[in-house]
Amino acid sequence: MEKFGLPLPLDTPTRVAVARHPVHPMLVTFPIAFFLGALACDGAFVLLDDAFWSRAALWLVGAGLAMGMLAAIAGTIELLAVGGIRRRAASWNHFVVAVLLLAVQAVNWLQRLQGAEEAVVPFGMFLSLLGALLVAVAGWLGGKLVFEHQVGVGGDAED
Ligand code: HEM
Repeated sequence: MEKFGLPLPLDTPTRVAVARHPVHPMLVTFPIAFFLGALACDGAFVLLDDAFWSRAALWLVGAGLAMGMLAAIAGTIELLAVGGIRRRAASWNHFVVAVLLLAVQAVNWLQRLQGAEEAVVPFGMFLSLLGALLVAVAGWLGGKLVFEHQVGVGGDAED
């Protein structure tokens, strides 16, 4: 109770880590690369009219979704378990945008399962573009947590 109203300390620790290196930043590189790669494949499909690119986009959206959900599990455990993360508004902003991103990409992947080529124009491409914008916002907010609030770089785990 005596902590109430005091500024939040920097050097917030991590709970989901390997040798004190947080696991979430290790995992997020995969969905970021896969989702942006899917948008590039959609563009290549529209330009080249080669079905290979629509199948590549289907796999990239699916793989990004799988790795994004693993990253989300690690991030959510951090969010709920570490008081210094839980009490920061920036953490909840990042959480909301990340969940929205995964929901958009789930719809993107499901509609591509009905037929990879037909799914690209217009909805697949629109959802990949929206996903890329959400990746940018989620990534920026995640970076804010690490580089401004120093989340995940602190010493011993607290409440
Ligand atoms: C949905 C639940 C999510 C939660 C609760 C969450 C939470 C967090 C937390 C607590 C951090 C600070 C570092 C740490 O303690 O590990 C962080 C960083 C970050 N997150 Fe998330 N995250 C989620 C999903 C995502 C997703 C889906 C992406 C990207 C596709 C993402 C991208 C990032 C990035 C880029 C960083 C900064 C990493 C760095 O610069 O080292 N997060 N997130």
